[in-house]
Amino acid sequence: IVKSPALPDFRRLRPLRRTRSDRFAHAETVLEASRFVYPMFIVNGVNIVQPILAMPGINRLSIDMAAKEVESALNRGVTRFLLFGLPDVKHPDGRSAWGPDEAVQRCTQMIKAQFPHATVITDVCLCEYTDHGHCGLLSDDPEETVDNDATLPLLARAALSHANAGADIVAPSAMMDGQVAAIRQELDRNGFNDTQVLGYSAKYASAFYGPFRDAADSAPSFGDRRAYQMQTAQRNEAMKEIQADISEGANAVMVKPALAYLDVIRDAKSHFRDIPLYAYNVSGEYSMVSAAATNGWIDRKTAALETLMGIRRAGADFIITYFALEAADWLRETEGGIL
Ligand code: PBG
Repeated sequence: IVKSPALPDFRRLRPLRRTRSDRFAHAETVLEASRFVYPMFIVNGVNIVQPILAMPGINRLSIDMAAKEVESALNRGVTRFLLFGLPDVKHPDGRSAWGPDEAVQRCTQMIKAQFPHATVITDVCLCEYTDHGHCGLLSDDPEETVDNDATLPLLARAALSHANAGADIVAPSAMMDGQVAAIRQELDRNGFNDTQVLGYSAKYASAFYGPFRDAADSAPSFGDRRAYQMQTAQRNEAMKEIQADISEGANAVMVKPALAYLDVIRDAKSHFRDIPLYAYNVSGEYSMVSAAATNGWIDRKTAALETLMGIRRAGADFIITYFALEAADWLRETEGGIL
């Protein structure tokens, strides 16, 4: 008998990963379609499917087309949707954000009527609706960019219109201080006690939002969002943002983007164990994998599954991802994304 190397606590770890069934049996993390959130870009009109160049497979959809997409998602076990809207007209104050007949409001009504088991999450922000592309009312002080407190009632109004349309969860992403409280109060005042608020709590100013801004037509026409979104250098500050949202009444919190911030996801999960944690695998993260895969430089399926597994392992309860529908198919083939 050949003895194991002469270390007192020598243990062979490779046997646990020898075959696929070994790997599956010992997996510490598995992926589930029910933990994905699928983002959708909704436009007015009918029969519209507009491809987004930098995000192959993702389209802007009119509501009739969105109905088909939701149905195919549900058939795959993806039940949670995050809606973004593109208005026909933009204004300085982003007033189309709370129009009762705008794309997000009507799409929410459609989904709740046709697919009552789907969970509708709506993005609450002004950047798609303002003619300047910033997330709030412009401030007189150019350094400050947006006027925090003047923006709060507008966000509350937009959130209320989503709740009125039937949204299960409203998700403010404008990074205004106090936005969760303003929305929670407005919802409660109007009897929407059961509508959840998901804070985009730790949202960083990121280059990885580039493709989204094309998709949602929401790039700022001047300057950037660094005076309101967080700077990449911050780790402790993310915990303060999350704590603030929880104190203001958030039912769930988020770290965004995911990949350059996996440490923040891990910190958030260990600091705040008893609140659902979402991580947003953002547009640029999707585009990078897609572009490299299209060039044959990387394998799309394994790279995407590795990414999603990493985000889940870091501690996210839910992953908002443009891969949701494809990944749901891959999960079926691979039993939870185990390769
Ligand atoms: C709106 C918003 C953005 C994203 C989600 N909500 C863009 C931004 O803040 O500029 C980005 C999502 C993505 O890149 O996939 N404020």
